[in-house]
Amino acid sequence: METKQGKNPEMERKQQDVTSVLLREERLFKPRKEVADIAYVKDWEAELAAGNDIEAYWANKAQQFEWFAPWTQTLDTSEAPFYKWFVGGKTNIAYNAVDRHVRTGRRYKLALLYVNERGDERKVTYYELYREVNKAANALKKLGVKKGDRVALYLPPCVESVVSMLACAKIGAVHNVVYAGFSVHALAERINDAEAKVLITADGTFRRGQVIDLKAVSDEAVSSCPSVETTIVVKHAGNPITMSDLSGKEVFFHTLVEGEPSECRAERMDAEDMLYILYTSGSTGKPKGVVHTTGGYMVETATTLKDVFDIHDDDLWWCTADIGWVTGHSYIVYAPLLLGTSTLVYEGAPDYPQPDALWSIVERYGVTKFYTAPTAIRHLMRFGDKWPQCRDLRSLRILGTVGEPINPEAWMWYYKHVGNERCPIMDTWWQTETGSFMISPVPTAPLKPGSATKPLPGIHADVVDQDGKLVPPGKGGFLIITTPWPSMLRTLYKDPERYVKTYWEVIPGGVYCPGDIARKDEDGYLWIQGRADDVLKIAGHRIGTSEVESAFVSHAAVSEAAVIGKPDPIRNEVIKAFLILKEGRTGDAHLVEELKKHVRHELGPVAVVGEIVFVQSLPKTRSGKIMRRVLKARELGIDAGDLTTLVE
Ligand code: WTA
Repeated sequence: METKQGKNPEMERKQQDVTSVLLREERLFKPRKEVADIAYVKDWEAELAAGNDIEAYWANKAQQFEWFAPWTQTLDTSEAPFYKWFVGGKTNIAYNAVDRHVRTGRRYKLALLYVNERGDERKVTYYELYREVNKAANALKKLGVKKGDRVALYLPPCVESVVSMLACAKIGAVHNVVYAGFSVHALAERINDAEAKVLITADGTFRRGQVIDLKAVSDEAVSSCPSVETTIVVKHAGNPITMSDLSGKEVFFHTLVEGEPSECRAERMDAEDMLYILYTSGSTGKPKGVVHTTGGYMVETATTLKDVFDIHDDDLWWCTADIGWVTGHSYIVYAPLLLGTSTLVYEGAPDYPQPDALWSIVERYGVTKFYTAPTAIRHLMRFGDKWPQCRDLRSLRILGTVGEPINPEAWMWYYKHVGNERCPIMDTWWQTETGSFMISPVPTAPLKPGSATKPLPGIHADVVDQDGKLVPPGKGGFLIITTPWPSMLRTLYKDPERYVKTYWEVIPGGVYCPGDIARKDEDGYLWIQGRADDVLKIAGHRIGTSEVESAFVSHAAVSEAAVIGKPDPIRNEVIKAFLILKEGRTGDAHLVEELKKHVRHELGPVAVVGEIVFVQSLPKTRSGKIMRRVLKARELGIDAGDLTTLVE
């Protein structure tokens, strides 16, 4: 993050943006009576006050789960920023998410409802899920997977992906899910960094009427992953694939679990034992392996879902994210199952086969709580109001968004046309690193379109300048989290130094710095404006500029690359690349197309290239670091600030 070089043009632009938003945005939406009457959090301010004593607050929330042994200390700060929660406590998150419900009236309740864009469905009760998880857990054990071993998952959102994650958790193996839109290189890099022993993949996944072959990508990746002993293949899309004839190296999921016992003892996990690694983009090329542990993650994901979306026993919860992102981990899989609710798992695009794809599912199944990304809302808005209007959306009670700031226009469209002016919108701010919602309203909070409101009870955040001094209301600065929280990342896998440097040493005072720019208004509401660092947010997906740059320079024609985010009305940002070509290469339209394809192949469809320009030189510091902010300032037509360190 460019904090030490004077003015930050990005921050200034965002300050200007938000000023204009704040000037216009005076609407306040008070909670409706029918929402407030049944809400768990009746009095928002009182609950926020209760959260001031973080230890007491979170210890109380942790009581709703089953612990095999109680914790002796709620929070250990002695090795900060390596915090520990629920010290000495023993539990198992899969046991709490599945086994616990099987002994109650929820035994035959719908746990998973899988739906895809072709209209296929699969319903799994808690009891069925229990059996499937146990069989898969036993099968993994048979392959020699033990507590602490890493298992990589490269799967579409489907029943088996949920089962596989829970099976790992049940036996204490650490899952490392890789988004199935990532390509060979990204998959191999993540498997190798985690040194995964097993890879679970599928034949294919459905996307816009096509089947994408995942097995081919896995094969190519595994050929450079020496740690992988076995590849397990889920037969899912039915596309033709070839299995290796090396016996034992590759096996079908259904063959493997067949005949396995449907009982499996839950591994006794320490609250601080690793639950999963999830790679995410940072400012440098190498993805960061965010490490989440068991106890605190369990407590906070479930608590936040319960309080923010007011989850009751008659709910059908739908989070439209992919299982490969943290949103899918926390809010498709763990939190809803921990609460014993029914969670909808969707595989497909939001506008396929028609722009009412999502609304027709809400109608067909009677979804009550719906959680999606602003980019999806902006995309669907374009097709007009008639698509949500022609569907019966009366079952909806609460709506939500995540992933990037939501502009008031999209908020209003969502509120009017999807929620019919009945459903409050929960704008939840959080990150892969935070594990759970951090800044978000609850249903009884008065809402301002475009603001995620306040830090949740038990969470404390503020806005400061680069010296860590609080900035006055209305002024922009760096968002910080001032107290530890249970579902916080514990470290970066195999790189504790990077953990300390990236998050805890940016702003003085021992506070967590998420890398976002924000501002607080007179009412204490937070307005998040976007990233302060070299991380792009394309359609809600996070990707580092340097990852994209390395993808460009891995092409034979490219000598140097600099990448910035270019504002995009639907996707928030797309990639704009400045490239220096190698001697003798010409930047024609043909090469532009080839490069776009190349980057997509390297990084997957997340990397949407909007524009490529060929240049003779790039702005650099004396030490040779590309000054992306200069390019960005030029792109946005604003002053680039203090450029004295610039040589070229
Ligand atoms: C951004 C996604 C504004 C933010 C859960 C953060 C948001 C990054 C919001 C994390 C929101 C997420 N309003 N910005 N409601 N939610 N962000 O790790 O920049 O994929 O730092 O986690 O998304 O992205 P990640």
